[in-house]
Amino acid sequence: MLSLAQAFIARPKLLMIDELSLGLAPTVVEQLVQIVPAIHAAGTAIILVEQSVSTSLRLAERAVFMEKGEIRFSGATAELLERRDLVRSVFLHGAASAASAGSGAPGGSTEARSPEAQRERASVLEAKPVVLEVCEITKRYGGLAAVADVSFSLHEGEILGLIGPNGAGKTTILDLVSGFQDLNAGQVLLDGEDVTGLAPHARARRGLGRSFQSAILWPSLTVAEAIATGCEPEVAVRAALPAFFRLPVVSDSEADIAARVDELIDLLGLGDYRDKFVGELSTGTRRVVDVGVQLASRPFVLMLDEPSSGIAQRETEALGPLLRSVQAELDCSLLVIEHDMTLLSGLADRLVALDAGEVIAVGTPADVLAHPAVVESYLGRGWGEREVPAGPP
Ligand SMILES: Nc1ncnc2c1ncn2[C@@H]1O[C@H](COP(=O)(O)OP(=O)(O)OP(=O)(O)O)[C@@H](O)[C@H]1O
Ligand SMILES: [Mg+2]
Repeated sequence: MLSLAQAFIARPKLLMIDELSLGLAPTVVEQLVQIVPAIHAAGTAIILVEQSVSTSLRLAERAVFMEKGEIRFSGATAELLERRDLVRSVFLHGAASAASAGSGAPGGSTEARSPEAQRERASVLEAKPVVLEVCEITKRYGGLAAVADVSFSLHEGEILGLIGPNGAGKTTILDLVSGFQDLNAGQVLLDGEDVTGLAPHARARRGLGRSFQSAILWPSLTVAEAIATGCEPEVAVRAALPAFFRLPVVSDSEADIAARVDELIDLLGLGDYRDKFVGELSTGTRRVVDVGVQLASRPFVLMLDEPSSGIAQRETEALGPLLRSVQAELDCSLLVIEHDMTLLSGLADRLVALDAGEVIAVGTPADVLAHPAVVESYLGRGWGEREVPAGPP
């Protein structure tokens, strides 16, 4: 928001915006959708780079669609929706259709379940054991309570969504749960064990995985090497001498890890990128690699911070089914922060909504997204009517 304000304030003749909606809450995107046309009306030409077809449709009349450095389409934005070949997922597509073949969902899309089905599933999951329990955690930065008295629990096999406006405290909760920040009060229980005092690596060893909002990875590793670093807990022999003499225990362990890396590269459709350096990847591809790195350590609780941000809309549609298949195949529980409500309401079993560091609603996606406080603080009035269908059915 700050960098957008800097660009607006210079009163440019040509304004180039790289991903307007990236990482922003629906209410903020809605404000920007009013502000950008106003700037345009005052005589500024605008080039907008955007992953969300819905947002582009509301802002631009003319669209240029690019792929691998080439222009694949140029014309009216509305016509772009009819180009199935362009809007359809190519990247995560294979993984998504494999996932949907198992679940019987049509076309690899994660349809939101009916409100009754959501409630039924939530009550089934509630009977399952709790794998992660957060008890009245508080984090203060000076006078600001970034997280105030937050409690929730994640059950075995559950996908729990964490939503709230920018600055609500979502990332701070992941920092507290994973141990990257010390909390001022409260307790974190992982599989019944109090891990509040443990360092991040000790929590990771106990099966807690976590991705970062910025998806920072080592730029000079290849994709395969980056994913292999995630397998580190499985390395059988760490000493230098057996490696020097290439003892069978070392080569066996390396072969196991290579097989695991191949499996994850297949699952995430990263085959074409296998030997590319992480530093050469686009933001979206790096994000998918980041998910692969987390999965490599076989966590039983995996926390993802805005996995869809920077990923093209057509890939986002495939991300829901992919994360569901990850949950089912690896038998883990997920805690997912997202601003993409279409994705999250189809994916999550329950949502926890935050505002200014406090929990304001907990329940099924249908109930939470209809909650007046959530609509007021996060979605903005008129949400639902505004949403333009993402693409061809
Ligand atoms: N290191 C810090 N020092 C001071 N304040 C901080 C620090 N880190 C976060 N905050 C504040 O804590 C609040 C919560 O931040 P947090 O990053 O958790 O928000 P968020 O819900 O993840 O938002 P977003 O959707 O934009 O990612 C914000 O008001 C932020 O300014
Ligand atoms: Mg955040």
